[in-house]
Amino acid sequence: MKTPQGLQALIDDGVIDEVLRPLKSGKEAAVYVVRSGDDVRCAKVYKDMAQRSFQQRVQYQEGRKVRGSREARAVGKASNYGRKQQEAAWKNTEVDALYQLRDAGVRVPEPYGYFHGVLVMELVTDAEGYSAARLGEVELSPEQAREFHQILVRQVVRMLCCGLIHGDLSPYNVLVGPEGPVVIDFPQVVSAAGNNAARTMLLRDVNNLTAYLGRWAPELLETWYGEEMWALFEAGDLLPDSVLTGEFEQDESTIDLDGVRHAINDAREEALIRQQGREAAEENED
Ligand SMILES: Nc1ncnc2c1ncn2[C@@H]1O[C@H](COP(=O)(O)OP(=O)(O)OP(=O)(O)O)[C@@H](O)[C@H]1O
Ligand SMILES: [Mg+2]
Repeated sequence: MKTPQGLQALIDDGVIDEVLRPLKSGKEAAVYVVRSGDDVRCAKVYKDMAQRSFQQRVQYQEGRKVRGSREARAVGKASNYGRKQQEAAWKNTEVDALYQLRDAGVRVPEPYGYFHGVLVMELVTDAEGYSAARLGEVELSPEQAREFHQILVRQVVRMLCCGLIHGDLSPYNVLVGPEGPVVIDFPQVVSAAGNNAARTMLLRDVNNLTAYLGRWAPELLETWYGEEMWALFEAGDLLPDSVLTGEFEQDESTIDLDGVRHAINDAREEALIRQQGREAAEENED
């Protein structure tokens, strides 16, 4: 096929030899199947920041030291230079996370490097060698659903042990490889320690998977793995192999406090987003 613009520099540098076909163009990136020598890999070319959801960025960047409303506003109104830096930080976040998680034994696509703003990584395939289906696209037996749930909960625990929360974990960011599920898509990964919304995001991630897999194995809907692992993590007791039960005794006295705190934070977050949305709109009118 004709080489897409973002990939020509990788061919010129000899990082890849050929672009075989487009795989998928999502909200944030276009993914291509490429050939490097005898290996078939995939290349993720990020879209310009302007095309990505503005709101998401505001929440995710919390804990990446662009939190204060002044800085956040500066990001919203970014100069060309500032915007380039933000872009680079966003892309690097995914690459850094992939290496870190791979080293920690989380099943993610093997990263092969980051060149000219493009992430080159393992193409996850099915048993026949075709690009793997996403979890959200496959039919499962109850046994498979339970097994996948267990594996995925373990991956989330390992990530949390690295201090990371995926932040956008859903059946569409999990590929089904021949040896089981592979988690992908990390640009929005959040720091578990540095983000006020970390607990909420972790619970949402685990809940997305549980709710989906619970369609095939309804007993999963009675489990509370997210709450359980967060409690261990907060106490400093979570290990990559910590045994989890899925049972969790809600502490009534803290729930309410938590609820109030989250409601307040959410309201604040929303106000900030609305304000930035207005500023961005004003800027566009200028
Ligand atoms: N390493 C990989 N191996 C096989 N397929 C992949 C790989 N990485 C991405 N894909 C395919 O490309 C799609 C988009 O990738 P990814 O989720 O990383 O980007 P995105 O732009 O954030 O997409 P979306 O907005 O759909 O979440 C995936 O849903 C998957 O089908
Ligand atoms: Mg995705």
